[in-house]
Amino acid sequence: GAATRDRLRIAIQKSGRLAEPARKLLAACGLSWRESRDKLFCYGESLPVDLLLVRDDDIPGLIADGVCDLGVVGRNELDEQAGARAQIGLPQAYRELRALGFGQCRLMLAVPEDWEWTGPEQLRGKGLRIATSYPSILVGWLQEQQIDAQVVELSGSVEIAPRLGTAELICDLVSSGATLKANQLKPVETLLESEAVLAGPAGGFDDARAALAQMLLRRMDGVLQVRE
Ligand code: PRP
Ligand code: ZN
Ligand code: MG
Repeated sequence: GAATRDRLRIAIQKSGRLAEPARKLLAACGLSWRESRDKLFCYGESLPVDLLLVRDDDIPGLIADGVCDLGVVGRNELDEQAGARAQIGLPQAYRELRALGFGQCRLMLAVPEDWEWTGPEQLRGKGLRIATSYPSILVGWLQEQQIDAQVVELSGSVEIAPRLGTAELICDLVSSGATLKANQLKPVETLLESEAVLAGPAGGFDDARAALAQMLLRRMDGVLQVRE
């Protein structure tokens, strides 16, 4: 983004797994906010660092467009959208600045419990359908494995696709494994190890935000080190 600003704007998840730990981490870095009534925007009090509360899926795009300066988001979301951008010829607009040590999960291939799993090569030449919200990461993995499967893109409830008959297997995030279990699926291959990360623009800042971001990163490194 080209706009010059003297306040830093950080996008975090509004609700969900990363919302609470993201706020706690930023608070531990000495940030505090005056909450607005709509609870979408929190004005920074202790420092000129504001929060924007959004859907996690929107965070990479908000950074790419310069609407937000930094974001706390899963590596899965960042990598997926980076791949999708690359596919349509867009430049890499953001990068992972720090791994934050919470929100650990894996992007995994999962198959019906009663399948005997011998390895990815068993999927070759079967023309199977795989449901996922991560088509770009999945397509990359399928190419590496030389598997020609059909990718069925779903924005949510991926785990019910095999029961609905819209796909034979799925590729989705696994944390505790409870969702897979509840749907008679089992995880078989890991495509990505994910956790919450701090993301920022690929190019950095050339105004007052540079010093603010630098200070925040220094404080964050201190907090993360103590937590280890
Ligand atoms: C992920 C994934 C599963 C669930 C797995 O969704 O899509 O639904 O977590 O977790 P488990 O192994 O602990 O059961 P998530 O809640 O991250 O968000 P979503 O609303 O974007 O699907
Ligand atoms: Zn999401
Ligand atoms: Mg889910």
